Parts: sequence; C-alpha cells; structure tokens
Amino acid sequence: MARHLITSAIPYINGIKHLGNLVGSQLPADLYARYLRARGHEVLFLCATDEHGTPAELAAAKAGKPVGDYCTEMHAVQAEIARGFALSFDHFGRSSSAENKVLTQHFAKQLASEGLIREVTEKQMYSVADGRFLPDRYIEGTCPNCGFESARGDQCDNCTKQLDPVDLINPRSTVSGSTDLELRETKHLYLKQSDMRQKLQDWIDSKHDWPVLTTSIAKKWLNDGDGLQDRGITRDLKWGVPAQFEGAPWAGMDGKVFYVWFDAPIEYIACAQEWAAATGGDWERWWRTDKGADDVTYTQFMGKDNVPFHTLSFPATILGSNEPWKLVDYIKSFNYLNYDGGQFSTSRGRGVFMDQALSLLPADYWRWWLLSHAPESSDAEFTWENFQQSANKDLADVLGNLVSRVTKFCRSKFGEAVPEGGTWGPTEDALIAEIEGRLRAYEGFMESMDVRKAAIELRSIWVAGNEYLQASAPWTVVKTDPEQAAAQIRLALNLIRVYAVISQPFIPTAAGSMMAGMKTDDWSWPTDLRAALNALPVGHVFEVPEVLFRKITDDERVDWQERFAGVRG
Ligand code: 2FM
Ligand code: ZN
Repeated sequence: MARHLITSAIPYINGIKHLGNLVGSQLPADLYARYLRARGHEVLFLCATDEHGTPAELAAAKAGKPVGDYCTEMHAVQAEIARGFALSFDHFGRSSSAENKVLTQHFAKQLASEGLIREVTEKQMYSVADGRFLPDRYIEGTCPNCGFESARGDQCDNCTKQLDPVDLINPRSTVSGSTDLELRETKHLYLKQSDMRQKLQDWIDSKHDWPVLTTSIAKKWLNDGDGLQDRGITRDLKWGVPAQFEGAPWAGMDGKVFYVWFDAPIEYIACAQEWAAATGGDWERWWRTDKGADDVTYTQFMGKDNVPFHTLSFPATILGSNEPWKLVDYIKSFNYLNYDGGQFSTSRGRGVFMDQALSLLPADYWRWWLLSHAPESSDAEFTWENFQQSANKDLADVLGNLVSRVTKFCRSKFGEAVPEGGTWGPTEDALIAEIEGRLRAYEGFMESMDVRKAAIELRSIWVAGNEYLQASAPWTVVKTDPEQAAAQIRLALNLIRVYAVISQPFIPTAAGSMMAGMKTDDWSWPTDLRAALNALPVGHVFEVPEVLFRKITDDERVDWQERFAGVRG
C-alpha cells in the first residue's frame, strides 16, 4: 500500500466551469484518486477554489457584490456541483483561507531570507479614467507573441505565453474600456527565478517519464529563458494576501497583495492544513519530507495553460524556500476540449457548463464521455452526435443492457438469487481469459494515467461480457438445459459485481447501483479474477436494479445542440 497525494488545478472562483475545464483537471484527478483508493492505497485528494486576484475582483464587481461575499457564495456553488459530478475530494478548500494567508506570507519571507526576493520600483499601466493600476486581467490587448486580440495582462489564452501588461499591443482597460493609459511608478516584489534556472532545468531533465505535453511546455519556457525571468509576485490590488505583514522583511508594500499565481499553488499545501483542521488528519505527513512525506507520491492534474506555473513558478517557490516541502513527482497535463466546431467560451457562454450538464443528465453520462475522449495527445472536440452515440452505445446498449438482461432473465427463470447447477466450460474459460488480459492492461493504463486507453480497455471488458451473453444465449439454453443456463447466469451475475468494482472510477453512481442491485458491499478489486467471479455464491440474493442508462433521443440531441450554441441564458 502506497501513499498518494493528488491535486487538481484549483478552478477560479469567477463562475461555473465548463466541461472543458472539468476534463482538464478535476475529473481525471478524480478518476485517478478513485482508482488508487480502489486498489487499497492511501490517498489524499485535494482541490479548492482559486479566490484571489483580478478574476475574483472583476467577477464580484460584475455581480455587484462585495468580493468576500461573492467568493463565499461561489465556493458553495462550485462545491455543490463538484458533489453532483461525484468528485471525491478529501477536501475542497479555499485559497482565501487563513491557512493560505499565513503560508503565503511565510513563503515570501522565507524566499527573502534565501536572497531570492528583490524590491523593484517600476512603471506599471495606470488607467487615468479608472483611477487605478491595471494589473493582469484589468487590462487586455493584442498578444505580442501570437497576435490574439484579447490577450490578458498576465497570460495569453491563445498561446499560453505569460505576459506583462506593458507587453500588450493596443492595451485597454477591461473595467472601462479606456485606452487613456499611462505608465506610473509603483513598487513590487520580484522572485528571482533566474537564479534558479539550473536547479529547475536539472529537475525537469530528471523527469523522463512525464507526459511530453508537460515537459515540452516546461522546456520551451526554460530554453526561451522566458518562463524564468524574475517574476513580479505582488500586485496593486485590494483583494488577496496582504504583501505587508508583521515581520515582513520589507516596508512600503501597504495596500498591495501577492499575485494570485503566487498564492494559488501554495493553497495545495494550505488545503491539506484545512483538511487537517476539519478532520484531525496530519497534513505534515503529506507535505513535509522531514515528517514522512518522503514516502508520498505526489501527482498534479491540470490543463496545458497551467503547466508553466506548475513546472517552473511553484517549484521555484518550493525549491527556493530551502525547506523540506514535498515536490511534485508527476504532472499530468491535458490539451483543450473544443465545443462543436469552436471553442468553449466562458465569456460568450458557448458550450455546456457543469451545472447545465447536470440538469440534462446524471453525472455518469458526462464522466464517461469526457474521460473516454480526454484531450490527451491532442485537442479533442465535443459534439452532440458523438456524445449521443457514445452514451447510447457504450452505456445503454452494452453495460446497461447486460445488467438489465441478466438480472431480469434470472428473476423470471430462477428467482432473485444466484442460481445453482451446471459448470463452466471452455466458453467461460475463454471469456475469463479475455477479461483477465484486458483487466491487467486496464490496470496498467490507470496506473500510467492513460485515460483514453483505460476507457477503451474498460469498454472492451463490458463488450466481452455482452458478447458472451449473446453467444451463449441462456434464454435459449434454458429451454433444453436449465443447469447450463444457470451456470451462465451465475457467471454473468458475478460479472456485474466485478464490472461495478472496475468501472467505479469512471461511473461511480452506476457502479453503486450495480453493487446495490447485487446486494453486496464487496468492493474488493478482482486481482484474482476467477476467485472474484465466485464472490456471489449460489443462493446469494440480488434485486433487479433500476434502468442504469437511458438512451438519448434524436430530438433531445437537436434541442440541446441549439440551446448551447450561443450565449448562456
Ligand atoms: O487556470 C485556473 O483555473 C487557475 N485557477 C488554476 C490554478 S492552479 C494552482 F496553481 F493553484
Ligand atoms: Zn498569444
């Protein structure tokens, strides 16, 4: 049994996330956490809302609410939706927590004592019309790297380049649209990332098993020198962790806060502290290498736009502190999911958002489609046709049909208990051998986080069961050889339990219904498949579960396609 720390990138607080956001971090992280728990490992799975900085301030202003209240409300909304998607966080924290404030200030002070902070008086964009500086998302313009016209002050959404507001071409205020901008002097703290270049380079170079997507982005920024320019870690903003605090080794930072990307990853640690405060758990065992975290395997999940911050910026904080904090062991990153011929767009309300998805269908439909089409090796695209086809075929026709046919047939011919009689022969042996092989492959893919490949293997396991049933046709056999039909059904009922166990990371709710239908709580992993297929003995009582998956009709598909094409209503 190993110990696994898993974090998902923490979603910004500013509104409900779309399915592209979900599949890029929280959902695959949940899949992995569920799988490792199912294999008996000790898992701490953390996520939180990213509540500071310009995204929160701007969204609160738009909603006409004080930013603190807005964050509290939206955290509750996001937590509820996460429950709806059965995301099995051990704790869903908040980057605005007291824990994160203390820890963020601690890291800044510690980095200063390591000689890695410098105070810089610089010129920043100031909007005369708005009477304020315009950091990060308060300013937009054309990306100097790729020409995208709505690049934000801190990062271009199109090419993922980290930007400085002064780099933007044709800049404008996002508050008022004003272009009456001027450069004014202001003082900020800079993290001397450039001093850590070699250390980070060596660390990234040692990660031979990381996904190419992760290392290629990291190396691009390292080799450009781009990601490792010294980085401003404070902002002229009100909302955030105050940069001036008791014991701070600098003065004159009143009214400024730390940059949201400085405190957000620190929330991964603070979140463990929040978890500990809520549950009595020992957070240091997970995060301090001097307190046992050396044994922990730490995996982070995120979309590709987050990779520079996790491969360079946050490690610079951790390594630079020279304290025994746990460093990430593996970074699983994802490409983008596009929506029906274009991009998901939060600002234009294009695509399906998490709350809307749950209002249409239960979480498992979405979980299955999203995970089985995860944008791993390239960007992927959500289309309603594909979604309908995949749900109707994989979930309704294959898995749902198997469960329903087997349990209903058994009820009508033998009653609601595992039937006695007959023996398994070569056909059953062949099925067991096939599933055994596929199951081992599935385990391998789940361990290596090859999400799509794992889904393909799982589907093949379902298909194998269905084909066995089709070919052996107990409903025909029963007429001439009821004992043989009983043996077939005994196998099939046991298969349902095994399917529940192995499918649970993908479709936890349906897996729960299958298990409840089999009236057992035996979630043990089928390491010995043959033994697992005898877990429900002759006479074991079951009940026919409710329909697991219904079909999506053509009318629904057309209707949904129209509804989600434009602006979120
Ligand atoms: O891209 C985002 O949604 C960011 N809020 C992710 C932050 S991840 C971390 F570093 F905290
Ligand atoms: Zn760009």
